Amino acid sequence: MDFRGAHIISVNQFERDDVERVFEVADTMEPYAHRERITKALDGAILGNMFFEPSTRTRVSFGCAFNLLGGHVRETTDVKSSSISKGESLYDTARVISGYSDVIVMRHPQVGSVAEFAKASRVPVINGGDGPNEHPSQALLDLYTIRKELVSNERPIDGMHIAMVGDLKHGRTVHSLSQLLLLYKDIQFTLISPNELKMPTDIVGKLREAGHTVVETDDMEAGLSDNDTVYLTRIQEERFTSKLEADIYRGRFRLNQAIYTRNCQPNTVIMHPLPRDSRKDANELDNDLNQHPNLAIFRQTDNGVLVRMALFALILDVADKVEQTGSKVGWYTESRFE
Ligand code: NCD
Repeated sequence: MDFRGAHIISVNQFERDDVERVFEVADTMEPYAHRERITKALDGAILGNMFFEPSTRTRVSFGCAFNLLGGHVRETTDVKSSSISKGESLYDTARVISGYSDVIVMRHPQVGSVAEFAKASRVPVINGGDGPNEHPSQALLDLYTIRKELVSNERPIDGMHIAMVGDLKHGRTVHSLSQLLLLYKDIQFTLISPNELKMPTDIVGKLREAGHTVVETDDMEAGLSDNDTVYLTRIQEERFTSKLEADIYRGRFRLNQAIYTRNCQPNTVIMHPLPRDSRKDANELDNDLNQHPNLAIFRQTDNGVLVRMALFALILDVADKVEQTGSKVGWYTESRFE
């Protein structure tokens, strides 16, 4: 695909080469993300960071990625404080904000909203999550992380075994990640969820059509064996009609040290898009795994900055200007990255 000026709405836009290109550029961002070097590649550029649903990581890491490339960030962080609450349409908002920005990242609770917004926008738009539908930048950073983690286990992405656990019905991260994996070969998916929260059948159908193996189960301990990666998710309570309904499923599938040791392969990588629900009644990923070397959740969040920098650099066509305008940081800094 031609990244220059492109909207990034769905993982289905990507070919395998495009994913490789994002990863290649992401690798070059490391000294900048790790605060060894600074760059002015996006000096003067403005990101419109439009978040109409709660977000910590996605919003801050997109903003941070843009800043690290030398650009400025303008933010709207909820519906109440934006003119959408006065009845403004996505069309009008897109026309307006695209006059103020060079690129826009948008998160919104409605399926298809970001695509609709992008149609009216005069600048490229990146989908930061449209309801339960998709979250393409998260899928890219997840796959980038999986690739890095598996390299140290001498395993490629093709042929890998992955278990996805939790609310697979509403979780946009697993919808995007599994569809991004359509580009790879012979993957074994073990989809562990309550019966009512299974992965949408159209996605499962696409995975099987692409030649992948898909096992669906609600038996977590059995499903955990024999995986390169276990990807846990939170019950997406905001997608249920009531908190009470979400409570039925909360806490049903949990991973902790004992369950991991009993069921997983010694190398199994533990992932989660975060936030993990750490309340006692949920706790899908226990703190007792915090020091476990295979826990990749904070490597995932660090990698998110690299991947988002790569997306901006490719869309705004400055990948080759990063180094040209780069220099060493001028302040005291110690490495805190793995
Ligand atoms: C996820 C999301 O918003 O879809 N968070 C994220 O972007 N890292 C997952 C979630 O909220 O459970």
